[in-house]
Amino acid sequence: MVNSLKRVFSAKSFLFICTTLSVLLLFIFTLIQLSTQRVDFKKIIEVEGHQRGESRTLLSLVLTSKEYLDVRARAVGDTWGLKAKAIKDRRNSDSQVEVRFITDEDTSEYGLKNVPVEDTEYSTLYKKTFKAFYYVYQHYLNDFEWFMKVDDDTYVKLHRLMKHLNNPQLDHNEPLLFGRTGRDGVSCWGGPGYVMNRKTLSIVGPYIPYCLSNAAFQGPEDVQFAHCLEYAYNQTYSDGNHPRCQGFPDGHGQEFLHVLSNSPQWERVGYADELFKVEEDHRWIWSFGKSVTIHSALHGNMYKVDTLYGSS
Ligand SMILES: *[C@@H]1O[C@H](CO)[C@@H](O)[C@H](O)[C@H]1NC(C)=O
Repeated sequence: MVNSLKRVFSAKSFLFICTTLSVLLLFIFTLIQLSTQRVDFKKIIEVEGHQRGESRTLLSLVLTSKEYLDVRARAVGDTWGLKAKAIKDRRNSDSQVEVRFITDEDTSEYGLKNVPVEDTEYSTLYKKTFKAFYYVYQHYLNDFEWFMKVDDDTYVKLHRLMKHLNNPQLDHNEPLLFGRTGRDGVSCWGGPGYVMNRKTLSIVGPYIPYCLSNAAFQGPEDVQFAHCLEYAYNQTYSDGNHPRCQGFPDGHGQEFLHVLSNSPQWERVGYADELFKVEEDHRWIWSFGKSVTIHSALHGNMYKVDTLYGSS
């Protein structure tokens, strides 16, 4: 009788111990799982943050002046400027793609911020871009990986542009300058825009005040910017390999389209694949569909292009 009671009791306690142990084990297992999940989650954030900081962020400066704000800046803010914010919001990041006007006016009315630089005479327009890049060099060098300059009548297909800029084969330790290469083989055309990486801005930045005050660097903005960069590079390195404007390595050479605002080619805007010639170029290689930027989009063409190609 006592023996059987003992057996029942020990069987019960054995069951109790087993249950307690398995509950404990389950608890520990869940804890381990949770903690590893947390580590993985942290890793994902770090990787995304790294991508953002290293190669996914772009600050695009739009050269404009007070008299054009109401028409041209508004058109930028209504079209690709608005899409820049959509990219930003979707990625839930503070600085995915940022578009800013170069002007000392408050441009929040157009949904975009400004870089405070005073208007200059047309003949010294290059100074505005120089000063804007200097401001950006001083304030935002580490916040963006790419820095672009376009005009207020330039349309930018941001999704396409980001695809080229996110090319993993690009070497960010090298100074890079992308755009449509000019006749000198060094500078980029200013109108359809040019984009440089952080390394390039970090080289030219400290020398911008010198270039601004030196008569040797007066002239068209696009040519003189490249000239200043060449000078700055020569002062920094002695290998003579100063950066030159180049097309995207993964591109086809027709990314930066320049077609005059009153050109009859604008009649083809709805035909994405139709090839045409452009001014100062006799090859039939340009098309609205293949381009990444389009200059000069005026008289409502900014809206037309946005409707046709804004999401392609
Ligand atoms: C930079 O250096 C190269 C090679 O030495 C030279 O040909 C070029 O004239 C220099 N440019 C400037 C702006 O100093």
